[in-house]
Amino acid sequence: MTKITQYAVLCATLAQGVDAVTFAVPSKVGTGGYSYAPLDPAPLGISFEFFAFPSYFTNVTATNQCLSNWKDLTGVWPPIRIGGTTQDRASFDASTSAYVDYSVANPADAPMTLTFGPKFMTLAGTYPGRVVVGLNRGKNNIQNTIAAAKVAVAEVKNLLAIELGNEPEYYPKDGQPIASGTWNPSVDATSQVNWNIQVGSAVGKNNIIQAGNWNQAPPQWGAAQLMAKENATSRQYVRHYAHHNYPGGSIQKLQTHSETASNIRSLFDADVAAVKQQTGKEYVLGETNSVSGGGAAAISPTWGAALWTMDYVLRATASNISRTYFHHGTVGNCQYCFWGRYSMGAPYYGATAAVALLAGARHLAALDNGAGNYAGYASFDGEGRPLRVLVYNSDYYAATGNRGSQAFTLTGLDGGGSVVRAKRLTAGSSLSRADRGGDLSFGGQTWGNGTCVVGGKETFETASVANGQVTFQVKAAEALLVYLQ
Ligand SMILES: *[C@@H]1O[C@H](CO)[C@@H](O)[C@H](O)[C@H]1NC(C)=O
Ligand SMILES: *[C@@H]1O[C@H](CO)[C@@H](O)[C@H](O)[C@H]1NC(C)=O
Ligand SMILES: *[C@@H]1O[C@H](CO)[C@@H](O)[C@H](O)[C@H]1NC(C)=O
Ligand SMILES: *[C@@H]1O[C@H](CO)[C@@H](O)[C@H](O)[C@H]1NC(C)=O
Repeated sequence: MTKITQYAVLCATLAQGVDAVTFAVPSKVGTGGYSYAPLDPAPLGISFEFFAFPSYFTNVTATNQCLSNWKDLTGVWPPIRIGGTTQDRASFDASTSAYVDYSVANPADAPMTLTFGPKFMTLAGTYPGRVVVGLNRGKNNIQNTIAAAKVAVAEVKNLLAIELGNEPEYYPKDGQPIASGTWNPSVDATSQVNWNIQVGSAVGKNNIIQAGNWNQAPPQWGAAQLMAKENATSRQYVRHYAHHNYPGGSIQKLQTHSETASNIRSLFDADVAAVKQQTGKEYVLGETNSVSGGGAAAISPTWGAALWTMDYVLRATASNISRTYFHHGTVGNCQYCFWGRYSMGAPYYGATAAVALLAGARHLAALDNGAGNYAGYASFDGEGRPLRVLVYNSDYYAATGNRGSQAFTLTGLDGGGSVVRAKRLTAGSSLSRADRGGDLSFGGQTWGNGTCVVGGKETFETASVANGQVTFQVKAAEALLVYLQ
């Protein structure tokens, strides 16, 4: 090594020392001035487009494996939601023996109309995790929806909730009969209130409706507006309130932590707080993903979108959004899907890192204020002790030029001289894709194309704790999950 490079290395080391992002890890939940979100047993869920649900569960091998990988990690099957635009194009047909019946000109299309039979609900009832079923309100045929709801209640043993309509703000544009007269947030809220009473009383269950389900932003289309129209009769049927969200934007914008934090804060903080304050009920993201309309081909399958998936679900969860369901659309025509029939999607890697942080935890805290590119999250166990910390360098790296690196220092750890383990979430660049190689891995592991079977040796790196502190380097577009127990 020449003198000059020695000097350069020394400068780099000093610069990293000076610029290290430092997070004080609280020794106990509720301390340290952070905000703590109580956790659902499985905050990360999957949404399946209504007409495509039977295909995912009977004809896509990876579905069961991808879901059961998370069950193995956490002990709890991830929740699923069945719904989407085609729930409002679907009619229940008690006499059909098919799961779904429809025809499309091209297999990449979603059907404009379809019927489904009792077997659809029987299939949903085979899923061992919690299930939300979305039914039709747009067609304004409440007797048909009540008939379907009764079969859902009878067949889906882990039924969590029923939705009555998907993104109803678009009903006029979609020519839905229920919106043939005036249709605005107030009219929709009154309609939801009435439907919740009629369907809830017909199935004889309180706390059964997942209400809301708009995509347009609150407060215009939000829970506060709906709650203002509710009375006690209607509200008793509501299990929780839901909203959809597709932030969109470039890969760089998606993966940038401050953008994600601002997206959650500006759209949802007030609506979540209103629900909590007025009803004490939960708030969920019932359908979400990177870019609307099945995703963007150049954006949604990338590593940057995978990092967004991880950061977004954690920031939402830290903001008291109880569950976040990532949407999966038409099989074979779904850019943001975590898996398909033949290949894996990069977002599964980011989602798995988030699931690994939350596994078995009871509380989550965001350790940063959301204003910068460097994020930290801490999860806590049932005794209130810190369980794991995830640190994220959201600097963009487009595979050209020097790849930056950021030091993260965690302080407040106990254990003099102890060693902590960490798993790295990494890929070649923000543009890497699971279906095009690109060195994606989490803790040295990958998931097989078409199978979702884990491959590679589970790999931890280690670092020593000195004076209650430990420092890790995290490259641009990487994250690190640090195990404190
Ligand atoms: C399963 O997928 C294959 C391949 O796309 C398709 O040809 C077949 O019709 C599908 N079967 C069902 C029951 O959806
Ligand atoms: C709530 O409103 C519905 C009509 O929308 C009515 O039938 C019901 O009696 C009301 N409940 C209460 C507690 O006022
Ligand atoms: C989330 O809810 C908990 C109480 O359940 C509260 O202490 C915390 O401040 C809330 N977080 C946010 C971001 O509002
Ligand atoms: C998945 O398929 C792509 C494209 O053939 C390949 O580059 C990648 O290495 C495969 N992934 C795994 C984990 O085998």
